Amino acid sequence: MNAVSISVNTRPAYRVLVGGGLLSDCGSLLRDTLNGCRVAVVADDVVSSLYLDAARRSLEKAGFDVRSYVFPAGEEHKNLRTLGGILEFLAQERFTRSDALIALGGGVTGDMAGFAAAVYLRGVRYVQMPTTLLAAVDSSVGGKTAVDLRAGKNLAGAFAQPAAVLCDTDCLSTLPPDVFADGAAEAVKTGVLCDESLFSLCEAGELSSRAAEVIARCVAYKAGVVERDEREQGERRLLNLGHTVGHAIEKCSGYTIPHGHAVAAGLGVIARASEALGWTAEPVAARICRCLAGNGLPTGTDFPPEALAEAALSDKKRSGEHVTLAVPERIGHCVLKTVPVGELPRIIRAGV
Ligand code: GLY
Repeated sequence: MNAVSISVNTRPAYRVLVGGGLLSDCGSLLRDTLNGCRVAVVADDVVSSLYLDAARRSLEKAGFDVRSYVFPAGEEHKNLRTLGGILEFLAQERFTRSDALIALGGGVTGDMAGFAAAVYLRGVRYVQMPTTLLAAVDSSVGGKTAVDLRAGKNLAGAFAQPAAVLCDTDCLSTLPPDVFADGAAEAVKTGVLCDESLFSLCEAGELSSRAAEVIARCVAYKAGVVERDEREQGERRLLNLGHTVGHAIEKCSGYTIPHGHAVAAGLGVIARASEALGWTAEPVAARICRCLAGNGLPTGTDFPPEALAEAALSDKKRSGEHVTLAVPERIGHCVLKTVPVGELPRIIRAGV
């Protein structure tokens, strides 16, 4: 095992390990953090068939008493019903406050198991074990947990930091290209936010050959942001680059367009809009869109700007009559711009 360790200095602080072979070693890696308690591994049916046995074997070998809860894969199952199923399962199994959950899977699993951990008995510990690129570069770190409501994505949730994150990069080898591309969108986003050389690496098509390095760089950046602004009062809102329109696209599509693809399209829209409205310091849109397309991602949407603006209004990023957008000034540097909600259709129209 050859892993990079990144500290996230929130309260409590935790470590993110990124490297190959972590899954089959997860028991010993978590022994000190969770001190041999009972653990419930939460996974969807696709991930459980691939990785649950290996995780269970390692956890049992390290002395953990292991239970598992498997739910059907897909964003449509990230809802109160599945959350309720996890909570009832924990109660039936008589899990106590000294026990823990392990979220084994992608963003849906991590967000939902994390939320279950945040509210079960008013809070138990949980560990994130991301198996997708999207979860590895973004959603497994930072403690945002949630389920979707009919009115929109992630509308019920809690901030609850994990006790540890184990990111086994070997799991990326089983990802279908479309699912890998979903994570590429968040990596490109991070490059646009803070690191032109990371963006160049994505641009050069090196994301999959240098995945561990990309993940570690994205996590290190995100860790710093989360340490400074855990509850998204300010700087953390930058991480929503491309997400205001992205979430609107997901909603308009009835959640048939996956998150990363929608974020990519949202990033294309906000890049073009920012340039058209004179908010950028230099041209950015063509380069961002070429990079997204080169990673198998869309760069725009056919949904009408008015429908997107309407959908965006139910998003969490709205505050009263204003919405705060992350805007690229140049590749590697973005700023926050707060605009009246009435301006949204005009801004989106400038970008579609
Ligand atoms: N995915 C954005 C954040 O964690 O703040």
